[in-house]
Parts: sequence; structure tokens; C-alpha cells
Amino acid sequence: MTEVLDAGDPEAVLRAAEALRSGRLVAFPTETVYGLGAAALDVVAVRSVFAAKGRPSTDPLIVHVRDAVAARELCAGWPGIAERLAERFWPGPLSLVVPRAPQVPDEVVAGGPSVAVRVPAHPVARELIDASGVPIAAPSANRFGRISPTTAGHVVEELGGSVDILLDGGPTPLGIESTVVRVSDGTVEVLRPGGVTVEDLAEVVDPAGARLVVPERRAVAEDAAAESPGQLLRHYAPVVPLVLVEARAGTVGELRSALAAHGVQASVVDLPRDGAGAAPRLYSELREADSRGADVLLVEVVDPAGIGRAVNDRLFRAAHGRVVTDSTPASVERLVALARPA
Ligand code: TXA
Ligand code: MG
Repeated sequence: MTEVLDAGDPEAVLRAAEALRSGRLVAFPTETVYGLGAAALDVVAVRSVFAAKGRPSTDPLIVHVRDAVAARELCAGWPGIAERLAERFWPGPLSLVVPRAPQVPDEVVAGGPSVAVRVPAHPVARELIDASGVPIAAPSANRFGRISPTTAGHVVEELGGSVDILLDGGPTPLGIESTVVRVSDGTVEVLRPGGVTVEDLAEVVDPAGARLVVPERRAVAEDAAAESPGQLLRHYAPVVPLVLVEARAGTVGELRSALAAHGVQASVVDLPRDGAGAAPRLYSELREADSRGADVLLVEVVDPAGIGRAVNDRLFRAAHGRVVTDSTPASVERLVALARPA
């Protein structure tokens, strides 16, 4: 049974911290999305995170710590540019992938040479880290491949029963996951766009004389070995097939009418055009749309500036890479076939 506690109650946070220390699972809010936490150096607890999510053991976890000093204790190397990024963006939605120290269990890093570390900004996450006194390994608190949770209710829908304590701290403010970057001496490579924008990263990376690598729409085939498995296409996905519309204004309406003429009910996921407005609503809107019982979901890309890049990345993955660029009969046929698989 999952105990849902009010995160505003200091007693609740202390109980959650105690539960973590004794190897149990605690879901908690961060400024990005809710995390499913386990004591990061407790191998058995970490294994139960993978089991609860149905997550393959090949997909490593982010370790949440109180500050950069605690982060460095988990790392075998700490490039100068990592220190500058930490100074500028921590606490906050940035995860740094750096060489791992020997005490970090294989389970956390999927046997790889590096570990992702992050100092979250949410007061509940910070209190929990401080009260438990241990680093917390925490993926988003959803079943593998599904939509990330931005409310405590979402966590119950996703993982109810397999979490020991859920700290309810209300909706998460940012609504989209942290930016994951791999850091080496001369290079900062974006593995997953997120809450810290590429524009913000450039302000630190460029003056430091390092190189910022930003792959466009990075998605790898599902059977290929992914460097960061969050890049898999079928992430963040609703159950009803979703299609990303990247076309002139009015196309979504045309597609919907044309589909209706074929007896296909399309529902539109309505998001603000600007990334900052869209991010906090993204996952709730996808969840809500999924429950409407439509045959197919349509969503328009948002303005790619700032956090819009991360929003479009998640939409692209939620759509399994399916994009339509016009409302021609060929595009309509594609959508009909998707809605009614043969
Ligand atoms: O905002 C967030 O990052 C949230 C909150 C709870 O902190 N956490 C989160 O965790 O989104 P998760 O596990 O759902 O996504 C972590 C991503 C995955 O794409 C994973 O492959 C990548 O980070 N990652 C973690 N450790 C890595 C490593 N050592 N090397 C490369 N990629 C790594
Ligand atoms: Mg996730």
C-alpha cells in the first residue's frame, strides 16, 4: 500500500527520509516532475526502482544530491566546465553525466563508466535529501515508456501500490524533465533537452571555450544500443496514437475534418504556442487527451525557442516519431491507417 503524505508536514518528510534509509521507495516532487526515489548506494533498493517501473536494467538513473560537493563525491573526475555549470544552474533542472566513482553501484549506472548527478531545486526534494543524508537515485515516477507524472495523482495512477511513501507537494512547477548533458574536458553534449535551455547552457559553455554539442531531434532505433536510453523513440507516450503536426496554421482543423469524413475521431491536444507556457501543461494534457477515447490524437509543435525545444522533443517521442506536414489525402490516409490498424 502506498501512503500518501502531505509534503508540507515536516513529520511526513522525516518519515519519508527514514523509509529511504531503510531501503524503501519514496516518490517525491522535484521542480521538473515527480521522482521515484531509492537510497542510491543501496543495491537492493535500487533494483526495486527498476522493478516498480518495469524499466530495463540497461537504462541508468540520475542521482540527486544536496550540492556540488556531494556530487563530486560520486564522481571519478570533475572537469572544470562541470564546476561552472554547477555554479550557474544548481540547484536546478540540469543533470551532469560525469565519470563515476567506484562506490556508485553498477545497478545505478547500468554498468556504464559514468553517473548522472543533479541538485534539485524543489524545497521538498531538498528537505528529503537533507533529512535522509543519502544520495537519492530517482527516475521519473511513471511506468517505463509512459507519460511522466507532474502531480501526486499521476504517480498513484502510474505506480500506486509499489511506492511505500508518496510525498504530495502539489503540481511540479516546470513540468518537464531536467536537461541531461555529458561533460568532458572540452565538450558539453546535450543527451536530453530539458528545463535548462540550450541558450542558457551556451552562456556558460561558450565563454569557457568549451564546445556545446546539440544533436537535432536525437532519436535512436529501439533495437540499437542507446547511449542514453531516454533517447528512445517510444518514450513519454500516451496509449492512443499521437501524431505531431508540423505545418502551416489551420492544418490541424483540416485534418480533423478530413478524418471525421472517414469516420475517424481525432482529438486535438491543445497547448500554448510558447514553450514556457506549454511545458507545465504538457504531460497533464497528454494524459487527459489519452482518456478521451479518441481514435487518434493530434498535437502541433510549439515555438522551438527556449524550453520549447524540450517540449517538441517530448512531443516527437510521444508521437513515436510520427510527423505530418500537410493535410493532403496521402497524409489523411496515413492517419486513417494509424487509427484503424489492419
Ligand atoms: O527531471 C528529471 O531529470 C527527473 C527528476 C525526477 O529528477 N528524473 C528523470 O529521470 O527524468 P529518468 O530516469 O526518467 O530519466 C533520466 C535520463 C534517461 O534518459 C537516462 O538514460 C539518462 O537520464 N541518464 C541517466 N544516467 C545516465 C548516464 N550515466 N549516462 C547517460 N545517460 C544517463
Ligand atoms: Mg523518465
